[in-house]
Amino acid sequence: MKPMTGWTAAAAVALAAITGAGPADAREFRLGLITPPSHIWTKAAEAFAADLAAETGGAQKVAVFPSSQLGNEAQMMQLLQSGALDMAFMTVAEVSNRVPDFGAFYAPYLARDVAAAGRLLKSDVALNMLQTLPRKIGVVGIGFGMAGMRQIVSRDKVTTAADLRGKKLRITPFEPIRDFYVALGAAPTPMPLPDVYDALANGQVDAIDMDLELIWKLKFYEHAQTILISNHMMFPMVGLVSARVWSGLSEADRATITRLMRRHLDGVIATAIEEEGRFLAEVEKTGREVRHVGPEFFGEAIAEWERIWAPKAPALGELRAAASGG
Ligand code: BEZ
Repeated sequence: MKPMTGWTAAAAVALAAITGAGPADAREFRLGLITPPSHIWTKAAEAFAADLAAETGGAQKVAVFPSSQLGNEAQMMQLLQSGALDMAFMTVAEVSNRVPDFGAFYAPYLARDVAAAGRLLKSDVALNMLQTLPRKIGVVGIGFGMAGMRQIVSRDKVTTAADLRGKKLRITPFEPIRDFYVALGAAPTPMPLPDVYDALANGQVDAIDMDLELIWKLKFYEHAQTILISNHMMFPMVGLVSARVWSGLSEADRATITRLMRRHLDGVIATAIEEEGRFLAEVEKTGREVRHVGPEFFGEAIAEWERIWAPKAPALGELRAAASGG
């Protein structure tokens, strides 16, 4: 586990000041996430907080901090590890930066659509992978959510993959997606979510890798000539609890938190599946060019990704078998 840096120590003090909760008051949990208040993940976190308070007669509360109020995901992960933050809904991308096996979830076209991705994330194969997290990175994984499938929004018109060659293409900061776009010949540009709108608007990047919900809700389409509906990767989220905090909870409290958080993570998956069609319809209504492409668009980049990641992420074999119903 990494030692507390000056930033994390300062954030821990700030957190205690915000909530009035110190280590002695472990029942006032704090849950951080990077998504804005309107996002499915944030709404699920709020609903989980409401259920936990209702079921414990108000004894256990959760204060939800959306929009990166507690820092970016790398910073929140450090806070979880030190016990200064209790819970987070976080991209699996951030976990894969520390546990490369989780890179397996980003195999291009591992899941053919959002429904298949949802089934895979609820499978025993996926859930069993969470068991290594307390030992490897000091967090407890409760279950998975998701943010639909990845698409590409481009300022310029895109007809073939050659049109993306050399283009600065925003990615979430994690390695599997970087390797995919390097293999495609683009210039992947890691950038956290809150910085993306301005970067696309002012041309700091030429294109972005994004999901349909945010293309619509954060209006990324406004700066697009072409939106490629490629569904090239799934984008899982994981509900995490600090292992330090977990070790101080009773078995009964752990069971309640697990049951209620899983309920809302499953709800995120269900909503992502239900809403994908509506988000696509909204984006289509904007009048931007919406081009549907499949694996053939990416050519050799898919095999190149596999060559790099199959040895680094041995879970890929089992996940692929589960994805194909094996
Ligand atoms: C992103 O980095 O693109 C992202 C992060 C969280 C939720 C959805 C998208």
